[in-house]
Amino acid sequence: QQANIGVTGLAVMGRNLARNLARHGYTVALHNRTEARTKALVQEFGDEGTFLPAATAEEFVASLERPRRVVVMVKAGAPTDAVIEEFAALLEPGDIIVDGGNAHFLDTRRREAALRERGLHFVGTGVSGGEEGALNGPSIMPGGSAESWEALRPLFESIAAQVDGEPCTTHIGPDGAGHFVKMVHNGIEYADMQLIAEAYDLLRHAGGFEPAELAEIFRAWNTGRLDSYLIEITADILAHTDPETGRPFVDVVLDQAEQKGTGRWTVQTALDLGSPVNGIAEAVFARSTSGHADLRAAARALPGPSREPVADRAAFAEKVEKALYASKIVAYAQGFNEIQAGSAEYGWDIDLGATAAIWRGGCIIRAAFLDRIRAAYAADPATPTLLATPDFAEALADAQDAWREVVAVAVREGIPAPGFAAALAYYDSLRADRLPAALIQSQRDYFGAHTYRRVDKDGSFHTLWADDPRKEIDA
Ligand code: 6PG
Repeated sequence: QQANIGVTGLAVMGRNLARNLARHGYTVALHNRTEARTKALVQEFGDEGTFLPAATAEEFVASLERPRRVVVMVKAGAPTDAVIEEFAALLEPGDIIVDGGNAHFLDTRRREAALRERGLHFVGTGVSGGEEGALNGPSIMPGGSAESWEALRPLFESIAAQVDGEPCTTHIGPDGAGHFVKMVHNGIEYADMQLIAEAYDLLRHAGGFEPAELAEIFRAWNTGRLDSYLIEITADILAHTDPETGRPFVDVVLDQAEQKGTGRWTVQTALDLGSPVNGIAEAVFARSTSGHADLRAAARALPGPSREPVADRAAFAEKVEKALYASKIVAYAQGFNEIQAGSAEYGWDIDLGATAAIWRGGCIIRAAFLDRIRAAYAADPATPTLLATPDFAEALADAQDAWREVVAVAVREGIPAPGFAAALAYYDSLRADRLPAALIQSQRDYFGAHTYRRVDKDGSFHTLWADDPRKEIDA
């Protein structure tokens, strides 16, 4: 008997993907650097489907039908190159290596090009949804060649999350496109989490709500337009009491958020692409600020305002909901613009609406909201920004007064809300009739003769600031 597909790297993500494949009727070859893990999987879950455990890489490869499909699920970074090389040496032209880790898309481009030279398909694939998603249906974002997609498609479609009968997977585009899109997914994930955290903080410390009450507010929000996995788990967390101390769980957790790097990459890449993602950037910086115990200890004694809780708690909660929704629209608009910029830079031709569609289920940012993004791109695939599409423009118009008030409360009460504030600044920047960038260009021309363009005629100009500022020359 031959296996339809093989999984190497059987830590929790690899193990759960292998089980998901087996549960869908595929025969799955298994391999792990230490064989004990392979054996443990078969012993514990062998009755879920057909597994072909292999002791060695050679045995593993020999057990696969052709073209061979090898899914590598190892920690992103140096181990990936070693594992890819180990298997590439055993494979034949036409075979496919799938990297399901969170690799950097530039590494994926490099690996894809190198393996293509050897006749192998390399498919950098974003897999989102954590352990649970990998087992019961993730969102799957494959890059790589069209040919490899045809070979993987039936398998990916059957194991992916399903929403309205549609599988949460599609061919994102060539080479690194899949990992790029997964990276931006994670950047948006950071922004979503930060915005939810700010909403919580404001409601608790300006609104005076206790965690148990907040759990109810988030639960109610989860039945409306904010309906999403992250809001749902937030309600669960806020309702949870620490069994040891009897205190709200959120109060016993150290307030330092960590990161493995994909959010940071989203921002680094956006800087390289010239794609403004200030909402996502604030989320990354907020995590980093929280982790700087040294800075925080040094500044702890600095004064803040005297706090007064808001007068009408219920009305404030409604305003925070609006601020959250509006800021979320901005974060997603920025993320999708980054995908658009990456797609143009690398020639990937990514379908933004299809990307939104496969994030509706399985992944960490899964939400009803993504259907609205899909619809917006279906109506106008070339829209420069989601902010200006009818559905979102209307929501922003409805939210903007409340949004401003919430940011004002944050400032007045001394509660940091960098996500809300950055999103609002972006909104106001885009809608501004004139930006003070005119002054910046003037300054550049003044000290560096960097020239400027004029509103009333074409061309580049320079003013002779030092000699005779009445004189303007064509530059
Ligand atoms: C997913 C997640 C996942 C990510 C973790 C941790 O889509 O399933 O994005 O891929 O690794 O959420 O990310 P951080 O450690 O950077 O918070």
